[in-house]
Amino acid sequence: MDKIKIKGGKALKGTIHISGAKNATLPLMAACLLTEKTLRLSNLPHLVDISTMANLLVQHGVDFRLDGCAEDGGHVGEVILLNAQQVDNFEAPYDIVRKMRASVLVLGPLLARFGKARVSMPGGCAIGTRPIDLHLNALEKMGAKIELKDGYINATCKGRLKGVDIQFDKVSVGATENIVMAACLAEGTTILNNAAKEPEVTDLVHCLIAMGAQIEGADTDKLIINGVDKLHGTDYEVISDRIEAGTYMVAAAITNGDILLKNVPMDIMNSTIEKLDEAGVFIKEEKDGLRVKRKNRKIISADAITQPYPGFATDMQAQFMALMTIADGTSVIKETIFENRFMHVPELSRMGANIAVEGNTAIVRGIDKLNGAQLMATDLRASVSLVLAALVAKGETVINRMYHIDRGYERIEEKLAAVGANIERVKE
Ligand code: EPZ
Repeated sequence: MDKIKIKGGKALKGTIHISGAKNATLPLMAACLLTEKTLRLSNLPHLVDISTMANLLVQHGVDFRLDGCAEDGGHVGEVILLNAQQVDNFEAPYDIVRKMRASVLVLGPLLARFGKARVSMPGGCAIGTRPIDLHLNALEKMGAKIELKDGYINATCKGRLKGVDIQFDKVSVGATENIVMAACLAEGTTILNNAAKEPEVTDLVHCLIAMGAQIEGADTDKLIINGVDKLHGTDYEVISDRIEAGTYMVAAAITNGDILLKNVPMDIMNSTIEKLDEAGVFIKEEKDGLRVKRKNRKIISADAITQPYPGFATDMQAQFMALMTIADGTSVIKETIFENRFMHVPELSRMGANIAVEGNTAIVRGIDKLNGAQLMATDLRASVSLVLAALVAKGETVINRMYHIDRGYERIEEKLAAVGANIERVKE
């Protein structure tokens, strides 16, 4: 398992290119199962999770090809071709699903097009129990027969799924994605109320429309899908990663650096930008990109509550907390989406951070200096928050279990080294 070694204290200066969004790419790849024609996706990040999704699709029978890379001013996004004409295996096995929960996104498309799917139950993970009841209840309502046996979801339907009115009790990104895909090929109209309107969901909806789906309400919490007999292929460019962009904004701010970010999806980053602005971070659009640096000498404490989009993203909570550990004052950070998303707190505390957790709330009292330490990465965003803290800490930090970061941050050590960080991957 690779480790990452960082000597803190360097102010980061230079340019960073933002990659395509992991959480938009994964459902877009699953959408290839809805048609026998080729789906071409571009601006893909080179990440472990994307390879895992590719492996899953290939074992279903999808023809997967790399179609080169498109270069955009130094940023190289991968281009892939997916063709699901010859799907002959309807099982998503435990060995793949346990590596990546987003594998469950094949359930809706397989069921809608082939009338059957057998998908390993994802189970919980480091950040929470993460049930999938909303996905399954909605599919049952659409006429699917769902049976849970031996750790697998066995789903079947006779003929096409039926369009129905669905009221999600909770806002769920994954459930909205799974059901919107299923509804595209259902008979009649499906209405999804209280749908997630995260930009990654909207990206999927735009791609499905380009594939011939009839969907109204993109970008709102009510999606109306008129089922069609068939979808066709399309050529679609994935949006840039708003969480990666937010993470590098924090990197500039925490190190008192000055970074120009390229390919930032500004229009979907209001909550992050507003929060960082409140914390004393200068963010300004320039001709060549987005300039990020501190407004003044000190970072100022600010409170944050995670919420579904357009609220402050749970996927930015750990990074924001890392910034608050060195802020002037006390900040209160409340996590409302996942029940166990403070795994970074004990590790940040080992670096000297002053954080008290009470239920779903963390009280962060800013200190002058963090100290380097040996740390353990636990999940993607918790791990990257440790990288951010290490960049400003005194001395050396070693973060073990680098594979969590490789799931969601493309070439992180190269991107940070290019702006002056003293960072090294230690291969084991
Ligand atoms: C997506 O996960 C993202 N993953 C997560 O990104 C992100 O944190 C999350 O949305 C919230 O924005 C991908 O897009 C691949 P949810 P998802 O269903 O879809 C509960 C990262 O670091 N719930 O919106 O699994 C659930 O337990 C990650 O990149 C149910 O109760 O999240 C949670 O409390 C990790 N029943 C809340 O809803 C269900 O059937 C939101 O989860 C489904 C969800």
